[in-house]
Amino acid sequence: MSGSTPVRVGVVGFGYWGPNLVRNVHKLADAELVAVCDATPANLAKFTAAYPGIPTCDSLDAMLATHELDAVVVATSALSHYVVAKAVLEAGKHCFVEKPLTLTSDDAADLVRIADENDLVLMVGHLMVYHSAVNFIKEVIDSGELGDVLYLYAQRLNLGKVRTEENAFWSLAPHDVSIVNYLLGEAPDRVSATGADYINNGVEDTVFANMHFASGRMANIHVSWLDPHKTRKFTIVGTKKMLVFDDMEATEKIWIYDKGVGAPTDAMSFGEDLTLRFGEIKAPFLKMEEPLSLEVQHFLDCCRTGERPRSSGREGLEVVRVLEAVSESIAAGGAPIETRLED
Ligand SMILES: NC(=O)c1ccc[n+]([C@@H]2O[C@H](COP(=O)([O-])OP(=O)(O)OC[C@H]3O[C@@H](n4cnc5c(N)ncnc54)[C@H](O)[C@@H]3O)[C@@H](O)[C@H]2O)c1
Repeated sequence: MSGSTPVRVGVVGFGYWGPNLVRNVHKLADAELVAVCDATPANLAKFTAAYPGIPTCDSLDAMLATHELDAVVVATSALSHYVVAKAVLEAGKHCFVEKPLTLTSDDAADLVRIADENDLVLMVGHLMVYHSAVNFIKEVIDSGELGDVLYLYAQRLNLGKVRTEENAFWSLAPHDVSIVNYLLGEAPDRVSATGADYINNGVEDTVFANMHFASGRMANIHVSWLDPHKTRKFTIVGTKKMLVFDDMEATEKIWIYDKGVGAPTDAMSFGEDLTLRFGEIKAPFLKMEEPLSLEVQHFLDCCRTGERPRSSGREGLEVVRVLEAVSESIAAGGAPIETRLED
């Protein structure tokens, strides 16, 4: 693909989230929105009303047969991701798939294999790894300012929107798992989780999941549809400093606390084994850009250069393995489940 010609993109799925992807593909100069496909006629009618003149199709097969495409963006419901993405890759097109990549790690591994064997880009919509705040935090961690990261925890809570086709962890936590893996630069080797179905029988609305890493670090993710507060919060505890990311804050989203526990300054001090440090607290200025726009631009760049995406199929597979293992652990009463994958 030449460096200056726009990437010719087709989009599958114009339901709730697809329109956001379509808007970005349409606005970015490096893409040409060639066609949109959806199995629901009413959704295609909404697309045509907003983007008159751009062709539509009622099936992926028809879109692939009728239009010259370099890449396809998949924004269908998770249940169909494997079948749709497989067809896209087997047609020789680069593929962006919304999160979660698939519903099983076997299916995700299969998509990674097909993409690798055919030198195609496979990217997953782990939107948060394109969020300016998350990338700022990654820089802070990598700079050593926090010291060694010891543990982190994430809370994604709300009253509603209650789904019945997937539990709260599959619905909400792909974002948190992808952030944790991205920030720590590793995927967990085991998880354990408990969950409860207070609202709908058999569908956990509240889950507490622990991720354990080979490095000794740990993370906890708490998701719930049954909580008085809308919360999107991350706390990271390092040996030198601590950081809180509150995505519900409009401007001061990140706070860095120069707080910690150190070795005693005076071994003979009376009644004190450890020193507590309470230093300055700062809320750094963040230049925010729309994560979805950065995400779609990154996909286009990868299609052109062949570069491996920040959220490649491999990262998608690692996230799906955690989601799957959390369900296994809940079913096994909180038992630890291995999540390590073959290289
Ligand atoms: N990144 C985010 O923050 C974010 C937010 C919401 C949803 N999502 C993801 O986006 C995806 C779509 O979610 P949604 O809420 O928009 O779902 P939705 O059900 O509202 O829309 C899916 C659309 O895909 C169409 N469709 C389904 N299977 C099809 C097929 N085989 N061929 C053609 N069209 C097909 C349906 O007709 C529907 O219009 C999911 O993977 C979801 O997890 C991501």
